[in-house]
Amino acid sequence: MKMIKTITTHTAEETMDLARNLGEKLEPGDVLTLEGQLGAGKTTFSKGLAQGLGVTRTVKSPTFTIMKEYKGRVPFYHMDVYRLEDSDEDLGFEEYFLGEGVTVVEWPQFIEEYLPDERLVITIDYLEEDSRRIKLDARTSRFARLCKELGQ
Ligand SMILES: Nc1ncnc2c1ncn2[C@@H]1O[C@H](COP(=O)(O)OP(=O)(O)OP(=O)(O)O)[C@@H](O)[C@H]1O
Ligand SMILES: [Mg+2]
Repeated sequence: MKMIKTITTHTAEETMDLARNLGEKLEPGDVLTLEGQLGAGKTTFSKGLAQGLGVTRTVKSPTFTIMKEYKGRVPFYHMDVYRLEDSDEDLGFEEYFLGEGVTVVEWPQFIEEYLPDERLVITIDYLEEDSRRIKLDARTSRFARLCKELGQ
C-alpha cells in the first residue's frame, strides 16, 4: 500500500508540532529519511520527532558527527550524512536501521544504497520564508496508517 500526504506549515513551530505528533507514534526499527535543500527544515523536523520520542536533550544538527544517539522512550538515532557526499562509505548503518531505536537520516541521497525500502520518505520544500511543504511518502502500510492519522 502506498500513500503520499502533503502538509503545508507556516511556522517552524508548526513543523515541530507535526513531527512531534508523528514521533509519538513511532516504534523501534522505524526508519525515516528527510530530504530538502539547505535550511529547508530537516533538523527542525528532527527536533520535533525527538520530542515525540520522549527525548529530553536538545537535538542539534549532527553535521560534524554523522550520527548522534539520544535516549528517549526508545533510542533515537539522528544521522546527517551530508559529509558523506561523494564517498560510498558504509559506516555500519544497517545496525541502526535494524536496531532497537528509531532512525532519522538527513541527506539520505548520499547513502541511498544502504537504506531499507521500508521507510517513510519525507521531503521538505521551501515555499516562503516561514512556509514549507512537507511531503510524507509512506512505503509501508503501517506508515500509511500513521500518516493518515496525522493532523489536517
Ligand atoms: N515552516 C517552517 N518549518 C521549518 N522550519 C522553518 C519554517 N519556517 C521557518 N523555518 C526556519 O528555517 C530554518 C530551518 O533550518 P534547519 O536547520 O531545520 O534546516 P535543515 O534542512 O536541517 O538545513 P541543513 O541542510 O543545513 O541541515 C530554521 O531556522 C527554522 O526556524
Ligand atoms: Mg539539518
